[in-house]
Amino acid sequence: MNGKPLPTDGPEMTAIVAYMKFPSKDIPPGREDEGRGFARIKPAPTPNREHGKELYATHCASCHGADGAGVMVTRTNEPRAR
Ligand code: HEC
Repeated sequence: MNGKPLPTDGPEMTAIVAYMKFPSKDIPPGREDEGRGFARIKPAPTPNREHGKELYATHCASCHGADGAGVMVTRTNEPRAR
């Protein structure tokens, strides 16, 4: 700890080893179990401006306006929760 290796026969190392053994209790070596290891993260999708434009027009423009400048909210044009 603190950048220094733990003594292999000390109480902290004994506790860490005991903990590491606990989750793998009753699991034969080499078996692939769910949650074992690290999941692969998908690479971020490539941005697509045309698709974004469509999504904005469909889902955002009603409140934010066609150019994103916003829309003055009055009692008559206030969007209603769907
Ligand atoms: C029903 C109306 C409504 C719709 C639809 C809507 N917004 Fe908003 N949006 C708001 C309001 C109101 C605020 C300001 C919220 C606040 O400041 O508490 C806001 C705030 C934002 C902000 C923060 C702006 C800032 O200066 O902090 C972003 C970014 C944003 N919206 C993006 C979007 C996007 C992207 C969509 C479409 C996917 C969308 N909004 C759809 C009403 C809406």
